Amino acid sequence: MAILLTGAAGFIGSHTAVELLNAGKEIVVADNLSNAEETAVENIRKITGKDFPFYKADIMDENAMDRVFEEQDIQSVIHFAGYKAVGESVEKPIMYYENNLGTTISLLKSMRKFGCSRIIFSSSATVYGDRNPIPYREDMQTGIGITNPYGWTKYMIERILTDAAAADPDLSVVLLRYFNPIGAHESGLIGEKPNGIPNNLMPYITQTAAGIREKLTIFGNDYPTEDGTCERDFIHVVDLAKGHLAACEYADEHKGTEIFNLGTGHPVSVLELVNAFIRANGVDVPYTFGPRREGDLPAYYADATKAKEVLGWEAEKTIEDMCRDSWRWECHCRSLSEE
Ligand code: WQD
Repeated sequence: MAILLTGAAGFIGSHTAVELLNAGKEIVVADNLSNAEETAVENIRKITGKDFPFYKADIMDENAMDRVFEEQDIQSVIHFAGYKAVGESVEKPIMYYENNLGTTISLLKSMRKFGCSRIIFSSSATVYGDRNPIPYREDMQTGIGITNPYGWTKYMIERILTDAAAADPDLSVVLLRYFNPIGAHESGLIGEKPNGIPNNLMPYITQTAAGIREKLTIFGNDYPTEDGTCERDFIHVVDLAKGHLAACEYADEHKGTEIFNLGTGHPVSVLELVNAFIRANGVDVPYTFGPRREGDLPAYYADATKAKEVLGWEAEKTIEDMCRDSWRWECHCRSLSEE
C-alpha cells in the first residue's frame, strides 16, 4: 500500500517524499513538472537511497490519474499540486481556479472510482483572512478578507473536501494549513526554486546574498510590531514535511475532516530573519527599507497546540537551521549553474 504524492517535485512535496521514505513508507509520485524539475525526483532517490514510481502526469487529466490508481495500490493521497504565486493569481485568476480546483476534483473522482478514501491537503494560513486575532486557531472562521485568488482556491478546496467527507462516511480528509515554509533539506540537494525574481522573502534573501540581486527591500518598517517590520511564523520545510507523516498516520485511524495548523507558534520579524541569516552564514545581505507591500498583514502566527496534542507533532528546527539550510541550497544551485 502506497501514498500518492501529487506535486512532489515541488518544494514541500519533495521534502515530504524524503521524510515518508525515511519513515519506511511506500510512495508514488505524480507531477506534471510545470513548475518543478525532474532532478528533484532524482534527488529524492539520491537522498533516501530508495526508489519509487514517478508519473509525469497532469493531475487534472482524469484518465492519467485513473491509470496511476489502476497500476498502483494507493492507500492515501497527499495533494500538493497547485499554482502558488499570489501575485500571478491576481493576474490570471481563471487559470488558478481551473488548475487548483480542477486537480482536486479530478483526484477525488479517481479516488472514489478506485476506493481510495484518505486525502491530506496542502492548505494555507491565508484562509484565515485579515480579520482574525492572532495567533490563528483552527476553529476560527475562515474566508473573511482573503485578498487574492490563490487564497480563495485554498479556501474553496477546503470547502470541497469538507463537503465530500460529509457526504461519504468512509472519507478521511486532513487539511494542513501551512504558515511560512522556508529552509531546505540539509543535504543541499532539494529546496525552493522560484521562477524569475522571487516574491517570497527567503529566496530573495539567498539570491541577494549570492549577488544575483543587488539588495533586498524590506517592505515597510512602520508596522505596529516590535521592530516595525512584519512578523511571520517561519517554519523549516523539513519540520513541515514531518507534519505530513503525522497527518497520514492520523488519516489511517480517523474518518471525517480534521484541520491542523503547521507552524512553530512563534512570530519572527522580517528584520530578525535577515539578521539571523547574516549571523548564521557569515555573509552580507544588503537591504533597504521600502514602502509597505499591498495586501501584507502586519503580523500573524499559528496557535500550534492542536497539532501537538492530536498529532504528537511539533516543529523542532530553529531559525538558524532555516537560514543555514536555505543558504546551502542556494549555494548548491549556484554551483550547478556555474558548471
Ligand atoms: C513575508 C514577509 C513581506 C519579500 C505568502 C503567501 C502564503 C504562502 C507564503 C505560498 C512579508 C516581506 C517579502 C521581499 C519583504 N504562500 N518581504 N521583501 O506574504 O507572508 O505569505 O507566501 O506559497 O500563502 O501569502 O510571504 O515570503 O512573500 O513575505 O520585506 O522582497 O516578508 O512584506 O512581510 P507572505 P512572503
